[in-house]
Amino acid sequence: MPSTTAAGHSSQKAVEKQAEKQEVKGYFETTGFERWNRIYSESEDVNKVQRNIRLGHQKTVDNVLAWLQEQGDLASRSFCDAGCGVGSLSLPLARLGAGSIAASDLSEAMVAEASRRAGEAGIAPGQLSFQASDLESLSGRYDTVICLDVFIHYPQAAAEEMVRHLAAMAEKHLIVSFAPYTPLLALLKGIGQLFPGPSKTTRAYTLREEGIVRAAAEAGFSPVRRNLNQAPFYFSRLIAFERTAC
Ligand SMILES: C[S@@+](CC[C@H](N)C(=O)[O-])C[C@H]1O[C@@H](n2cnc3c(N)ncnc32)[C@H](O)[C@@H]1O
Repeated sequence: MPSTTAAGHSSQKAVEKQAEKQEVKGYFETTGFERWNRIYSESEDVNKVQRNIRLGHQKTVDNVLAWLQEQGDLASRSFCDAGCGVGSLSLPLARLGAGSIAASDLSEAMVAEASRRAGEAGIAPGQLSFQASDLESLSGRYDTVICLDVFIHYPQAAAEEMVRHLAAMAEKHLIVSFAPYTPLLALLKGIGQLFPGPSKTTRAYTLREEGIVRAAAEAGFSPVRRNLNQAPFYFSRLIAFERTAC
């Protein structure tokens, strides 16, 4: 009988993690790109569920923009939009006068579309830059790091690790949103409704909020704002953290 060593087990886990990330990337380069590009647009070519997700997601983006404006002086601040999708947050943030925004996404198709939209909106690459990158490869220091609706692809422990990683890149503020674990969401997930349309090719993870807050606290951040944005097919817990310790 082959025996499983601890090292073998952890390398097996790393292989599985990498395979899952490739699956997510493949999805967001192809059918996922087409689907989410339509959701994050004004296209009429969306079904009821997708329209609903669009509305819920817009609430999350609007909350973030309002909070950032309340903090004032966008022009002197640097932002990192990690997992930027087609630029639903970065573009309006640039239009509001943000100093500099580094936006990135695992999917090259998403980054290309975000960049196309920014060009069409006349936003200068010097103010808003894009790169294809996974969250794990990001580095640098920014006034504010934001990561919206990406943790759906991360199980609890990996999401907490990612919160610590993103927090280490944030000088003052960290803003994240994720699908919170609730019994209702567990049920919806069970019946496969978290992803719109017939293609549910990636796994969707709901996260326990206390773990996310604990991970941020370990990195020196405390929650200052929280919202739960809901529409029947969209549930997203949004938390803004502020650095309270080095
Ligand atoms: C639901 S969309 C949200 C996009 C954007 N944050 C927004 O709120 O408009 C999720 C995005 O996360 C990206 N993504 C998934 N896993 C990622 C990873 N490991 N690193 C970077 N981006 C990732 C996907 O390519 C996709 O664009």
